[in-house]
Amino acid sequence: MNSDRGRQLHLGVFLDAAGHYASAWRHPATPTDMFFRLDYYKRLALAAERGKFDMVFFSDRYGIPDRYGDSFRATVRSLHSARLDPFTLITALAGVTERVGLTATVSTSFSEPFHVARQFASLDLLSGGRAAWNVVTSTSDNEARNFGEERIPDHDSRYERAREFLDVANGLWDSWEEDALVFDKEAGVYADGDKVHYLHHRGRHFGVRGPLDVPRSPQGRPVLVQAGSSDTGRDFAARVAEVIFTAQPSLDGARSFYADMKTRAAAYGRSPDSNKVMPGLMPIVAGTEAEARETEALLAEFADPLAGLAILSDQINYDLSVHPLDGPVPELLEATGMQSRLKLVAKLTQSDSLTLRQLGRFYGGSRLHRKIVGSPVQIADFLQEWFVKGACDGFNIMPPYLPDGLDKFVELVVPELQNRGLFREEYEGRTLRDHLGLPRPASRSRS
Ligand SMILES: Cc1cc2nc3c(=O)[nH]c(=O)nc-3n(C[C@H](O)[C@H](O)[C@H](O)COP(=O)(O)O)c2cc1C
Repeated sequence: MNSDRGRQLHLGVFLDAAGHYASAWRHPATPTDMFFRLDYYKRLALAAERGKFDMVFFSDRYGIPDRYGDSFRATVRSLHSARLDPFTLITALAGVTERVGLTATVSTSFSEPFHVARQFASLDLLSGGRAAWNVVTSTSDNEARNFGEERIPDHDSRYERAREFLDVANGLWDSWEEDALVFDKEAGVYADGDKVHYLHHRGRHFGVRGPLDVPRSPQGRPVLVQAGSSDTGRDFAARVAEVIFTAQPSLDGARSFYADMKTRAAAYGRSPDSNKVMPGLMPIVAGTEAEARETEALLAEFADPLAGLAILSDQINYDLSVHPLDGPVPELLEATGMQSRLKLVAKLTQSDSLTLRQLGRFYGGSRLHRKIVGSPVQIADFLQEWFVKGACDGFNIMPPYLPDGLDKFVELVVPELQNRGLFREEYEGRTLRDHLGLPRPASRSRS
């Protein structure tokens, strides 16, 4: 091991039940009988902890994707489309893990800040400071239809609500000062009333008096994760995010995104270290490159173009089924979902003239996140290159199929990164902020 420790990589693992290749659930080693059992997620989270990952991460959406053909048929037939609520899941995982950070997604478009602030503060306490919130604004009309609306609000309005939501949540987390709890049994003083504060927030979307009824948590506030990559999304991330997820297929694109996020953070008076940029990466790894290619070929055999198109239709909020499968990819001017993903699709289809069927197969592979196939040394070379060339602070690892895809990364790639002095051999701190090298925020409450 190289003891002269330089800058260290951060690693998260993006988990679901099957893995990220769209048809991974069909892989012979993927245990479909375990998909809804706590034992299985415990096994995955413990693998991440064995690999000294900073955190595990679960995404979320509110409903089964049904933008493609205005029906859930293509989705439920071809995709692992049933899921568990991620917040419930990380709460359960808090009880069976010790060190790994626990990140769940909650949308600001369909919830109230008091609820969400309270849940994450509670989890931060129960997990000993390991909670993180992936703040999303949601993308699809079918989610809105589960909350009394026909259409998802437009992109800018979603982010506007998200900004106010975060102002309220941060205020609520600060409503108890560090030393507000007294527990003086003799004097009969439970807490110091001068150290607990109303918020008195009244804004366009929310009216919240506060204070929270949960005291200040070990991390002060949970770690905030964000993944907006459009101009508005980047601005929001620069303002609030401490971890930034992004899909970056190329090194040059990733470098310019990285530089942009650090510059934008500075414009908000934040240091470049205050956010950790972690692009998604799908590693297909085996003992040798040839074996890794065989693994990829097997996964590709199961790929169903409709699965990829169902995911994409949902993410960009546009029904691709109205266009012929064997015709060219249409111009997607009316799509109102993820703006950054639309740009990546446009770039891909400009350089290679694809049919929709081909796009569906390709998109189902890694959803335009970077994929890398190879031996442990090749994968480690890739991570190192992006890290030293200023493209990232770490990676959000997206195993192609589970649990093997994660086990192989932990057994084969993590030791290679440790030998190169790029990644920790042991956890050094207790909280997720410790793992990520993020400061514990001071409470902004008045005393
Ligand atoms: C790794 C990653 C995970 C994401 N997870 C979710 C999620 O769980 N739920 C969701 O609605 N959006 C999710 N998104 C989408 C983002 O929140 C955001 O909508 C998207 O990046 C597009 O942002 P933009 O419209 O600013 O370009 C994720 C994006 C990335 C890159």
